[in-house]
Amino acid sequence: MTVPIQPGATLGIVGGGQLGRMFVAAAHRMGYRVCVLCPSPEEPAGQVADELVRGELADGDAVAKLASMTDVITLEFENVNVDALARAEGHAWLRPGLSLLEVARDRRREKRTFASLGLPLPRFAVIESEEDCERTGADFPMPAVLKTALAGYDGKGQRRIESPEALGAAWKELGQVPTVLEAFVPFVGELSVVGVRGHDGEIALYEPCHNTHVDHVLDLSLAPAPLSPEVTREAEEITRALLEGLDVTGVLCVELFLLEDGRLLVNEIAPRPHNSGHLTIEGHATSQFEQQVRAACGLPLGSTRRVVPSVAMCNLLGDLWQAGPPNWPGALAVPGANLHLYGKSEARPGRKMGHITAVGADPEEARSRALEARARLLEPAQSAATAPSAGGS
Ligand SMILES: Nc1ncnc2c1ncn2[C@@H]1O[C@H](COP(=O)(O)OP(=O)(O)OP(=O)(O)O)[C@@H](O)[C@H]1O
Ligand SMILES: [Mg+2]
Repeated sequence: MTVPIQPGATLGIVGGGQLGRMFVAAAHRMGYRVCVLCPSPEEPAGQVADELVRGELADGDAVAKLASMTDVITLEFENVNVDALARAEGHAWLRPGLSLLEVARDRRREKRTFASLGLPLPRFAVIESEEDCERTGADFPMPAVLKTALAGYDGKGQRRIESPEALGAAWKELGQVPTVLEAFVPFVGELSVVGVRGHDGEIALYEPCHNTHVDHVLDLSLAPAPLSPEVTREAEEITRALLEGLDVTGVLCVELFLLEDGRLLVNEIAPRPHNSGHLTIEGHATSQFEQQVRAACGLPLGSTRRVVPSVAMCNLLGDLWQAGPPNWPGALAVPGANLHLYGKSEARPGRKMGHITAVGADPEEARSRALEARARLLEPAQSAATAPSAGGS
């Protein structure tokens, strides 16, 4: 394989969710074809794929088939079967590579890596047995959060622990699997930085976003974040250290807790585009998904400059559908509002169905426009205008 992989080639992606769908949109705009590995053609990225390998993400044969059909494989979900991907390496490039995936998919390795790179992180302990619960619980600061080491997302697999005695029961509730106990962080804000590293080591960083979560799920992201230049610089330095320390080729998102005294702690990383980076589609010169294409193909990275004064993104969860179809015209009447729907047919409560991005003259305007547009989804629709009848008198 030669660098760069030229437009016209077929790119492979493991996972059929919304991140894959937006990757496909960026790749198509640049003239690439995309083959998606996912269980069903009905999945968000499956619907828009040029080719589909139908299979579970952990299915080694399916990953090998994807590799045989493509020049490079990227992913939209890190809880994948690393052994299956290892088999594919050699047939297609893996971007990101296996060593990053091994770290990012396991909270134990992730936290040890942050510590070994000298990055600030909340106090943590690995809990893998009842003895660990007893020994560690005795002198661990409370409250704390117990998180499964593998396969967690959107706050799934997490329990808040208020006392040492509650730890054992929580570990049992989570299925007695390997977990990480983490000190509860009294943060004043949550930030994320999306960074990209090209195949030649070139780095591009977006400005930090300010993120608000509801029930452990991202609700709203805002750029620019209201931060001092020192905090912004620190967030960027941490992201740069991770991109280099983990030898990333591709997109990496770093989630950070901001403390009252201005210090940052690293929460976790995602080796791919991130929900908080969706606002780069409207807000920045190059979207995080186009950067994923560029990095995977060995192309120069794009500018991460913001091209609007301010931009906000809020998620649309399935809850918004429970009282009937959302009022789309109402939302889209809000100035600066843009709608993204992921093509999911079943709107279950808590399921990410889409997002709204709004631009504004300043962060407050962008934020209030995004929230106003979302609130209008629940307002009764005006009675539909009658379409002009064909061939009328
Ligand atoms: N130690 C902590 N102290 C305080 N709040 C926490 C802590 N850990 C997690 N949270 C809250 O829960 C949210 C989700 O946690 P985390 O990022 O670890 O989970 P996740 O399941 O990997 O989620 P996602 O993949 O959606 O980012 C955080 O963004 C934060 O709001
Ligand atoms: Mg997170």
